[in-house]
Amino acid sequence: MPREGAAAEAGPDPAADPRTNIYLPRLAVVDRVVDEIADVRTLFWHFEDPEAQRAFRQFRPGQFAQVTVFGTGEFPASLPASPTEAETFFTVRQVGSCTAALHRLRAGDRFGVRGPYGNGFRMDDFAGQNLVFVAGGIGLIPLRSCILYALAHRSQYGRILVFYGAKTPRELMYRENLRSWEEAAGIECHLTVDQPGEGWTGHVGVVGGLFKKPGVQVPIENTTAFVCGPPVMFRFVIRDLTGMGLSPQRIYSTLERYMKCGVGKCGHCCIGVAYVCLDGPVFTCEQIQKLGEDI
Ligand SMILES: Cc1cc2nc3c(=O)[nH]c(=O)nc-3n(C[C@H](O)[C@H](O)[C@H](O)COP(=O)(O)OP(=O)(O)OC[C@H]3O[C@@H](n4cnc5c(N)ncnc54)[C@H](O)[C@@H]3O)c2cc1C
Ligand code: FES
Repeated sequence: MPREGAAAEAGPDPAADPRTNIYLPRLAVVDRVVDEIADVRTLFWHFEDPEAQRAFRQFRPGQFAQVTVFGTGEFPASLPASPTEAETFFTVRQVGSCTAALHRLRAGDRFGVRGPYGNGFRMDDFAGQNLVFVAGGIGLIPLRSCILYALAHRSQYGRILVFYGAKTPRELMYRENLRSWEEAAGIECHLTVDQPGEGWTGHVGVVGGLFKKPGVQVPIENTTAFVCGPPVMFRFVIRDLTGMGLSPQRIYSTLERYMKCGVGKCGHCCIGVAYVCLDGPVFTCEQIQKLGEDI
């Protein structure tokens, strides 16, 4: 039988304290929901606790968070917002039970967030270099953060180029950003689709085809590339970039693995000796090749 007053003597429950229980999500509130493309939604959110909000906003581009939808489960999601932006959000494709449950949330609903986790892109390491971003489909989600971070620190970098492709014009994500990148000075943005239509007058073909588009000159000297997209796109783009002379050490990507803990405890995400949740999700192409990872 517990003694009277035992709870008070024992002090706060360590399992209920996010400083001592690394698995405990902090409560987040949905601010608004935006349909991005078919099956993909962006949820803008904030933490209930302003201190948690302040701490979280120290994140780096390329990091991820563990998202809990209460009563359903938890899954990893990238942080597409740049730390230089005011709002925080997730952009999530509905593929199974957790992502479907997240899609059902509406403004005012609560969910849980742990993080930020992972290594992310160390953007300061690329100072003085040209940055080439290549994305296909929802591969733009993790790269959006880096692109906006680089633009917010424009004077630190050389040329900034974005090559982005989707199956159809309807499947191009973050359209407002794409429009402003196409029009803005200081960034060269090239778009393509596999299947035109819907009044599309732009380039048609695979994203690597943009490298050879008239007027496009992809820098190789003093350049770092960031490539995210479906495996088939990744393979061809790596072949193209290395064929143009870019070293695999200078090409970065993010790996997706099944994750449970997100903090290096469960081993679910391991590829050989690497923990994708701790050592990644950002890896160079050279590291990916050494891991023997067949993307
Ligand atoms: C670091 C990281 C960042 C991610 N960021 C995003 C993001 O920003 N937006 C987004 O939409 N998704 C992202 N994902 C993928 C997302 O975590 C999965 O889609 C999600 O876990 C699926 O959960 P579910 O319960 O809805 O689907 P489940 O019922 O678990 O699975 C449904 C289907 O999706 C496949 N699947 C599930 N998880 C993964 C995975 N990790 N990799 C590949 N296939 C998977 C399953 O094989 C199955 O076919 C990220 C994954 C990682 C590891
Ligand atoms: S997800 Fe548990 S160790 Fe990486």
